[in-house]
Amino acid sequence: MASNRTFTMIKPDAVEANHIGHILAMITDAGFTIKAMKFTHLSRKDAETFYAVHKERPFFGELVDYMISGPVVAAILEKDNAVADFRNLIGATDPAEAAEGTVRKKYAESKAKNAVHGSDSDDNAAIESGFHFSEREIVG
Ligand code: CMP
Repeated sequence: MASNRTFTMIKPDAVEANHIGHILAMITDAGFTIKAMKFTHLSRKDAETFYAVHKERPFFGELVDYMISGPVVAAILEKDNAVADFRNLIGATDPAEAAEGTVRKKYAESKAKNAVHGSDSDDNAAIESGFHFSEREIVG
């Protein structure tokens, strides 16, 4: 059964461009409830650990440098079918391929600076949520 939670980050490019409010409005308008949220600046170790699954990829260094270039908003979101529905809301990794009306189509600069992260599976949603939040930071 699909889990009802996913994890997101509003990334440094979108924070810098003052899109936090617009993106949160899109998320809540789409029916997601915020269960936890923080504004934080990742350390290099944080970013390397969070994206460890990509460490052999050629873009890993660029990805880590970018993710520590400024603050991010991290959040746990709840909705039926959260992982899949959130990925539909944000659109394809590359904004050039993202559908009209998606967060990345509207706000992403490029495939690297792509405005938002969304978990790609229920297992990763749980791992990523646990990386950023303790149980007592999550609203029951
Ligand atoms: P995200 O959904 O956070 O998951 C992995 C991230 O790696 C992705 O969004 C992009 O920001 C980044 N990424 C994926 N492919 C590339 C690429 N070809 N070049 C640069 N960054 C990439």
